[in-house]
Amino acid sequence: MKAVTITGFGAEPLLTDLPVPEPGPGELLVRLHAAALNPFDWKVADGALKGLVDHDFPLVMGSDGAGVVERIGPGVIHFRPGDTVYGQFMNLAHGRGSYAEYVIAAENGTLARMPDDLPFPVAAALPTASVTAYQAIEAARLDAGQVILINGASGGVGQSAIQFAALQGARVLATATGDIAGHLRDLGADETVDFTAAPTAEQVLAAHPDGIDAVLDLVTAPGGDVDALAGLLKPGGTFVSTNRAADPDALAAREVHGVNLVNDPSRKELESLAALADAGRLRITIDAEVPLADAPAAVNRARAGGSRGKTVILL
Ligand SMILES: NC(=O)c1ccc[n+]([C@@H]2O[C@H](COP(=O)([O-])OP(=O)(O)OC[C@H]3O[C@@H](n4cnc5c(N)ncnc54)[C@H](OP(=O)(O)O)[C@@H]3O)[C@@H](O)[C@H]2O)c1
Repeated sequence: MKAVTITGFGAEPLLTDLPVPEPGPGELLVRLHAAALNPFDWKVADGALKGLVDHDFPLVMGSDGAGVVERIGPGVIHFRPGDTVYGQFMNLAHGRGSYAEYVIAAENGTLARMPDDLPFPVAAALPTASVTAYQAIEAARLDAGQVILINGASGGVGQSAIQFAALQGARVLATATGDIAGHLRDLGADETVDFTAAPTAEQVLAAHPDGIDAVLDLVTAPGGDVDALAGLLKPGGTFVSTNRAADPDALAAREVHGVNLVNDPSRKELESLAALADAGRLRITIDAEVPLADAPAAVNRARAGGSRGKTVILL
């Protein structure tokens, strides 16, 4: 089978031929039809989890994907060949990932059946970005009418987070440059903040001098300075980071609840998100679709920034 692999931390992704894996007890072999890129994929390839988790090289890159169950191993009871499934397939200890024509999944892993009419690229685009968005908005504890700033709103997580916050009845402020501001308003943002015109926090403070209720920060790197953004929050507000940029103790000292979110999808959540997408209540913007052979170049483009939705590999 064709797959995009790395031979070590920091190595260039390469299109490679690998044997089709065999499902063991409790495992399924899935013929993937689409895989989606997430920043986590190249962070892992660069060694983000080095020393924390075993890695087996050559390592197939990627986590998210959607496809059809090809074969089941002994003891599998919930899935059968022909089922369409989607989820997270990264298994670093076994060198497995989703930028591949076939992947092994554990029956009890992060996997769910897809609604019949949901296209594979949309299903593949959902697991990491939309689960993170959903769990981040839950963590933000918003009441209707409360105000949330989504920093980094134009990418995969941000676009879904706008929609979940709007569904909660919140007033949504979204960072956006001019090329995407209209689209983010269409998804449910009430106000957009062009972070290239002036610092985001200054602009939000000018428009909301009494403060806001929550910040979802998708931008600040681990250990980065969140003071200006956290300073926008009213006492009792919530600061959620997807990049471990929140210091919950320091935030508590200013009466702000700090959360460092790590997505952890349940099968039920995956099924609910797929149902929402299928019903058109969660809109996924596919920014680019590329063949597997172009995935290494797509990874390099995505690394450079400028995401306006999801990049999907067609398999
Ligand atoms: N903890 C978890 O479980 C988890 C899960 C998913 C994602 N994440 C992390 O969350 C972050 C977002 O993920 P994603 O999938 O949405 O990434 P993405 O699709 O690459 O989107 C990131 C967006 O942020 C924008 N951006 C960059 N700098 C900005 C700034 N200073 N102000 C405002 N916007 C800015 C980018 O646009 P420009 O490049 O044009 O500026 C891009 O549209 C990533 O760091 C990812 O690793 C964590």
